[in-house]
Formats: sequence, C-alpha cells, structure tokens
Amino acid sequence: MSLVAEKIESAEVADCGFTLSPSALSPRLLEVRFERSVVSAFLEAIADWPVQALEYKSMLRFRVGKILNELCANQLQPLLVETLVNRDTGALLITPEGLDSVEQAEDMVRFTTAVAHLFGRSNYDAMSGQYYARFVVQNQDSSDSYLRQAHRVMELHNDGTFVEQDTDYVLMLKIDEQNMVGGNSLLLHLDDWEDLDSFSSNPLAYREMRWSAPPSKNTRKDVFHSVFDIDRSGKPIMSYIDQFVQPKDDEEGNWLTDLSESLEGSQAILSVPVPVGSFLLINNHFWLHGRDKFTAHPGLRRELMRQRGYFSHAKTLRNPQQ
Ligand SMILES: [Fe+2]
Repeated sequence: MSLVAEKIESAEVADCGFTLSPSALSPRLLEVRFERSVVSAFLEAIADWPVQALEYKSMLRFRVGKILNELCANQLQPLLVETLVNRDTGALLITPEGLDSVEQAEDMVRFTTAVAHLFGRSNYDAMSGQYYARFVVQNQDSSDSYLRQAHRVMELHNDGTFVEQDTDYVLMLKIDEQNMVGGNSLLLHLDDWEDLDSFSSNPLAYREMRWSAPPSKNTRKDVFHSVFDIDRSGKPIMSYIDQFVQPKDDEEGNWLTDLSESLEGSQAILSVPVPVGSFLLINNHFWLHGRDKFTAHPGLRRELMRQRGYFSHAKTLRNPQQ
C-alpha cells in the first residue's frame, strides 16, 4: 500500500501534526490540514527569519522546510514527494490552521516556502524579482493579461510556458479576499479531460510552437516547444496557455482554438473554493489551472501569492529522449 493510501486509511494522523483526506470534489485532490499547534511551533522556531531573510538567503528556505518536517514527525516530506508526482493525484489543498487573515501574510509566505522546499525549489519569478510573487486583483484593472482581470474567466492553462525554467509545480496561496462572489480556482486533470486522446494524438500536438509573453511578465525572449509532451510512463503531459502561444499559420491557430474550446467545455473541470490562508499545490504537467470570474463590486479585493519551481526529489516528468 502506498504511503498516501496508508495515510488516508489511518485515523491516527494526529501524532504527525496534520491530517490528509480526499476532497469531496475529486479523489485526485487531497486535502491536508495542519494543526494549529504545529503552525504556532513552526513560526516560533523560525522567529529569527522574516521573509526578507528567506529572500536574501536561498539556503534558509530549505532549512525552514526541514524544521516544519521535523515538527510533523518527518512524515510531511515523503507525503509531498509522493503525491505530487503520482499521476493519480498530484494536487493538494493545504490549510495551516490559524493562518487566516491578511495581517499574517508574511507568515503565510514563510509557511508555503517551507512546504515547497521539502520537495522542490521555487524559481526566480521575473514578475516580482523574488522566488515568489504577491499580486492583487481588484475591481478596476489596466494590466496586459488576464491574471489581474476580475470579471472574466482565466482560461485553463499550465504555468511556465514562456520561460526556460522547468516548472514542475505551481503553488497558489490566497492571502486576502474582500467582497468576493465567485472566483473559484478551476482545475482539470488531463486524464479526466474527455478529448485528451484526440488532441494528444494529432500531429500538431508535438509540433514546436512559439511562446511569448506581454511586457508585465518581464521575459523578453521567445521560447519554442510543443503543446504536448510524453512523460516517463508514456502518457501525455501539457505545456499550454492560450494567451501566449503564437501560432504561425491558420492551421495552428485553428487547432489551438479548437483545443481551447474543448478544455473550457470539459465537464471534468473542478471548481475549488480556496479559503484565505489556504493554498493549492499542483503538478503543473498533468493538471491545468484557471480561475472563474467574479461578480463586480467596488470594494472587491483579492491578494494572492504564487511560487513555481522544479522538483528536487524526482526528475521532471519529461521524457529524457526528447
Ligand atoms: Fe497560472
């Protein structure tokens, strides 16, 4: 029996400081809840290291991970490593109890940093100039992508499509939410998508395409890769976002539009409410993510933080032959 299955079956999880259970939305999405006492003990143990210390010294991100793992009887690291690469799961909704208001934003960043650096390393984020990025969504917006635009769906996509860094995971934390109706996170597992076979078997699936981002992303260089790739077990994985792919002709443009319409119309999309202080952690190769639209409100405010990076405990899922 796998570690995860054992953990879900076992009622005796209190001794490791967190509980694990499958989400009511899908058995692929696992919910992890950290006890308040562990969260408090963690923050006390790292009291000397504010977020700035973690920004300046990369090595400390790993040390805070080690401290959290030890407080969890060394059960957390193997659980994260296993669930994130497991094709049957690969998605976690994590809640540290007691971290649930915007005044605790820095503590939330420190906690997510510890979790992320138990199985990987978060990449430099060109939008913020740090290993994480905090950003606000409000009622009015003048930005150049749908990231901060509230009143429309942000379509399903993978992250890291227009950068050269490996992006094996995406971590999305909800720091604040005011006057918000709607706006759930949207998730789709590739194996639940009705049209995976037809799109991933099309010759265009593996044709190299050009990807480039608008100025706010601070990445000037185009990158080239196909929409689909094959993982080590021979299953399709994706690296796709509708806004930043630059089809070279009508054949590519129309195939991509068909692909987008199929994804957005899938009946298997999960609509996941993420409470303030909770965060989603997903395998970026076989989970697509997006965001539902919000209802307009003059006082609407949402603050989010993201970290994206590579797995340090497992090779990237891409087939080494390619
Ligand atoms: Fe994204």
